Amino acid sequence: MTATPVFGQGDASYQAAGQYEGIRRLVDDFYDAMDTLPEAAHIRAMHSADLTEARDKLTRFLCGWLGGPRLFSEKYGSIAIPSFHRAFPIGPKERDAWLTCMRDAAAKQPYSDEFKAYLLAQLYVPAERSRSLDE
Ligand code: HEM
Repeated sequence: MTATPVFGQGDASYQAAGQYEGIRRLVDDFYDAMDTLPEAAHIRAMHSADLTEARDKLTRFLCGWLGGPRLFSEKYGSIAIPSFHRAFPIGPKERDAWLTCMRDAAAKQPYSDEFKAYLLAQLYVPAERSRSLDE
């Protein structure tokens, strides 16, 4: 009998997310949602017109963040998510728009409901810590 993996332990979350390929699909759907959802238009406008590098960076970051290989620092060096985002005007509305895009993207993945809920709850933490404005 195979024990149910506990997300957050070892690379269980990285495996549940489908490793690099699965995370790349999540990130592609995330930026597609940001490109199309009206409630995300203002955060889309903070990003470069061309999202090629943003897609690569977020995919690589999430691989390490989910307990897999540290592909972001391998290519781009170290990053502290909250201080990096100080450069952008992020309040609760922007945080929630970002999380809405992630929820939309996660819904399209072949993930269990349990992992989707876990992922969104975990992502709230760095999203909230990236907030620099009260409103
Ligand atoms: C809270 C809402 C958030 C907003 C509005 C936001 C917005 C942005 C913007 C505008 C950029 C720059 C993109 C560009 O150069 O075109 C960026 C980069 C990035 N964001 Fe966020 N972000 C948010 C949350 C997050 C979270 C929660 C994570 C990680 C879990 C994250 C990971 C990254 C990474 C890895 C980069 C690339 C950094 C680099 O250029 O070196 N972001 N974000």
